[in-house]
Amino acid sequence: AEDGYELWLRYRPVNDPALLKEYKKITSAVRILGNTPTDTAIRNEMLAALPTMLQTNIPVNTPAAPSLLIGTLDQINRQIDLPVIHNTNDEGFIISNATIKGRKVTIITGKTPIGVLYGTFQFIRMLQTNQSVTDLPVVSSPKVQLRLLNHWDNLTRYVERGYAGISIWNWHLLPAFLDPRYTDYARLNASVGINGVVLNNVNANADILTAPYLEKVAALAKVFRPYGIKVYLSARFSAPIEIGHLSTADPLNDSVKLWWKNKANEIYSQIPDFGGFLVKANSEGQPGPQAYGRNHADGANLLADAVAPHNGIVIWRAFVYDPEANDRFKQAYDEFKPLDGRFHSNVLVQVKNGPIDFQPREPFSPLFGAMPNTPLMLEVQLTQEYLGQASHLVYEAPLFKEVLDADTYAKGKNSQISKIIDGSLYDHKISGIAAVSNIGNEQNWTMHPFAAANWYAIGRLSWDHSLSSESIASSWIKQTFGNDKDIQTPILNMMMSSREAVVNYMTPLGLHHLMGNGHHYGPAPWSNNLPREDWNPVYYHRADKFGLGFNRTSTGTNALVQYQPAVQQQWADSNTCSDQYLLWFHHVSWSHRLSSGLNLWETLCKKYTDGVSAVKDMQQTWQSLKEKIDGERFERVAMLLAIQHTEAQWWRNACLLYFQTFSGQPFPSNFEKPD
Ligand code: GCU
Repeated sequence: AEDGYELWLRYRPVNDPALLKEYKKITSAVRILGNTPTDTAIRNEMLAALPTMLQTNIPVNTPAAPSLLIGTLDQINRQIDLPVIHNTNDEGFIISNATIKGRKVTIITGKTPIGVLYGTFQFIRMLQTNQSVTDLPVVSSPKVQLRLLNHWDNLTRYVERGYAGISIWNWHLLPAFLDPRYTDYARLNASVGINGVVLNNVNANADILTAPYLEKVAALAKVFRPYGIKVYLSARFSAPIEIGHLSTADPLNDSVKLWWKNKANEIYSQIPDFGGFLVKANSEGQPGPQAYGRNHADGANLLADAVAPHNGIVIWRAFVYDPEANDRFKQAYDEFKPLDGRFHSNVLVQVKNGPIDFQPREPFSPLFGAMPNTPLMLEVQLTQEYLGQASHLVYEAPLFKEVLDADTYAKGKNSQISKIIDGSLYDHKISGIAAVSNIGNEQNWTMHPFAAANWYAIGRLSWDHSLSSESIASSWIKQTFGNDKDIQTPILNMMMSSREAVVNYMTPLGLHHLMGNGHHYGPAPWSNNLPREDWNPVYYHRADKFGLGFNRTSTGTNALVQYQPAVQQQWADSNTCSDQYLLWFHHVSWSHRLSSGLNLWETLCKKYTDGVSAVKDMQQTWQSLKEKIDGERFERVAMLLAIQHTEAQWWRNACLLYFQTFSGQPFPSNFEKPD
């Protein structure tokens, strides 16, 4: 049975006879030159993949002359006739041809064993996706240094915003019991280039920093190490009080400084390659430096100085908002921009992709491009808190690409966010992307089989943000469902239309934050009496008899001025602002004509209807694949799509019937009526 556990590391026989012949020839004698734990991982992976895919015995490290030589550049160059000279960074890899005493061999190499491991996974991916390995060399280096998953996992194993079971970290049985799943988790991550993992929730419990837990963390770090994955921890800012028994957590207090230094020393004595701390401070009730009249830089630098002697880093989150702000949109920028240049050199500031909170579509956060002297890390969310959670099929790569490709104009045209977060625009030494994990202990890791594509995609994009959403999806489909030609285009179409579908049936035209309070599931645009004004959907959509949308231009909250003039210009005028962001920045009259010629109300009806139809199309497409997909995964996706279809209608009906009470206009006769 196909339980989905293997995800994209699914090794099935290669059917194409010509390719099979080619692959067999290349792997007829494999030699792995190193003997580090990473080399063992390489060997294990090759032996998991090749014998099943090629249906033959694969000799590894036999006396036979090698056909495939795997090792670091130093090791390889000692064996072959001409040195390999392609340039990569420390994690990069090269797959190439070479000769040993006149005989052709294929080589997988890199500067470090980890680079070689990444090359091995690329090689296996080429076989899984039926690419010829004759078109060489393949040379690749990651563009971004810190490619992290952020687990919002509590020590109780409850996962905040987790929809795929409980946490895979079994704290109770660690450190003695090492679930084989930990190794598979590391393999999956390494195969897409993820090299770091924050184990615990940003709403952190200080206990993770106590000795018994650090022993458990060290055990996980040991499993991950051969796969190039470092562990990081979310640190609770008030830990010196809670577990250190100090009376303060003031970042400028000497005992507090000493406490963090000692704590860092303790951690590094057990985990010498510990990555560092992630901190959510003065946000949604979390403790932070502001309680002592200090600022975010004071707080971040305190921890940064503690880990600096060990080459650790601190990732300080910029997700802040409080009820007093006149527009939540503006607060992160207002609080952080003035601190630009005040953070120590081992601090990154982690910024969510948009100014509010992982909505189906947001304009990019204006902090990107506003802090040239601070390395900024992009935070995106894999777990679909606001995207239908685990029951909706939403391929997020187009969302990630929209952010990465957005031009901030910070240094003139072509100052894309990708160049800010890979460090190239301002020449920063550290760079990173963090993705809030969607992983749990469900058999198939992510509950919705297609949610795994988002995990996969963010790894591939963190490595190389120039890859297209389509090419990533297409590799994922082949690796996950196989190379059958008939399934490629239909599944690709489903995936590529899914993000725009969810925007349309939930929050089209720049609407945002219309969901139910707390659980964030389903529509509640009418909600207007929550304890905080900025939690109420009515605060965001501002529907009235005149129209709809949030005026953030100079006649409104003027959040727009946080962007460079060239960006402001794109969005400042409701007649020229693209439909995608219209209601993010404008309160527009119901009779306002959009580019399509329809008025606002009619367009809203059309968008919600389009969203529902797109889900219906996905369902039909999936049904057409019934004979081509194994029963278990087919049924699972079919059932989930049925839920998604019902819920898309729920969103459309709820939102249109509610907004109609303001627009007072009838439903256009060519659309199915909401009920
Ligand atoms: C959202 C989410 C919270 C989370 C927060 C964060 O608001 O609903 O559960 O803690 O983001 O990113 O810190």
